[in-house]
Amino acid sequence: NNSQATQLKNDYQTVTELYNHILLKTVVGEKALKYLQKRHVSAETIAHFQIGYAPAANDTVVQFLQTSNRSGQEIISSGLFAENDQGEIFDRFRDRLMFPVTDQSGNVVAFSGRVLQTDDQVAMAKYLNSPETPIFNKSKTLFNLAAAKKDIRQQGEVILFEGFMDVISAYQAGVLNGVASMGTSLTDEQLYLLNRITQRIVICYDGDQPGIKAAQRALKLLKNKNFEVAIVVIPDGQDPDEFIKAQGSAAFVKLVRQKTLSPTAFMIEYLSRQFDLTNDAAKVDFLNSALEYIGANDSPVEQELYVKQLAQRLNISVTAIQQELQDKVRSQK
Ligand code: UTP
Ligand code: MN
Ligand code: MN
Ligand code: MN
Ligand code: MN
Repeated sequence: NNSQATQLKNDYQTVTELYNHILLKTVVGEKALKYLQKRHVSAETIAHFQIGYAPAANDTVVQFLQTSNRSGQEIISSGLFAENDQGEIFDRFRDRLMFPVTDQSGNVVAFSGRVLQTDDQVAMAKYLNSPETPIFNKSKTLFNLAAAKKDIRQQGEVILFEGFMDVISAYQAGVLNGVASMGTSLTDEQLYLLNRITQRIVICYDGDQPGIKAAQRALKLLKNKNFEVAIVVIPDGQDPDEFIKAQGSAAFVKLVRQKTLSPTAFMIEYLSRQFDLTNDAAKVDFLNSALEYIGANDSPVEQELYVKQLAQRLNISVTAIQQELQDKVRSQK
């Protein structure tokens, strides 16, 4: 109910401030602050995203909220705690960097906590998210949407990232219209939220195999929806955060502005990586798969554009490819 929701939002706000204070002002928070510095996250960025640190102790939040006079059930359903076999309540988030997640109005309604180890040292889940609660529905939430809303409107487009650190690094690089879907695949509900503020989506997922697969899935979901779609492919298997760290902010801004592929161009690029194009039989297979996508594109202008690009790339005449495409389209009808 309403008062429970208000109470919960108050708790999340209070705990956000607590974690942020621990990160910035206490000895316990020093190693997390060092971790952020190592990742080039500035003080302004920490403040903007209200990043914090949950200490290793299992009763930081338990102690902090103790005075507030709530029933056991209310405390458990807040998502901030867990309960052991003895019925003891302890903090859900321990020894993690804390990213607050807001609802549409900017109220903190959940957290995601990252371990301080680097990827290959991580034995447990790298990011731990809050469970669903009366105020948090994961499939209807996008990280940073409330804060980015104004910039999304101004830029006329939203940039969709895979991860928190990608949104955060992009923000530091001056790209303020980024959001992320927090580890789950994109949902119709999230698209519905976005569609109320923009009609253009730029997908900027990780440049590795899972990221490219996820982009393909997103393209499927975006089909026949009221969006214009473009895709940025980050080179060398990097994610946007790694790219920015390696190449700098200006290079990232340029990549986002210039190298945006249409869905068809993205699929052709993606396909081309699965075939050995020095082999004639593979060339023909690639061409056939690529023509399926080109044939599915309704725009004659785009069709001609991609046919010409394929002709050049494969050293086959435009006429022959054009003929092949027409045969394909006809046989599909
Ligand atoms: P990635 O593995 O690409 O992480 O997962 P990342 O964003 O690059 O994180 P850093 O740079 O190592 O800190 C992409 C997203 O998937 C979700 C998170 O939202 C993450 O940002 N995820 C990943 C989880 O929810 N849990 C996990 O254990 C891992
Ligand atoms: Mn700011
Ligand atoms: Mn990834
Ligand atoms: Mn990543
Ligand atoms: Mn990353």
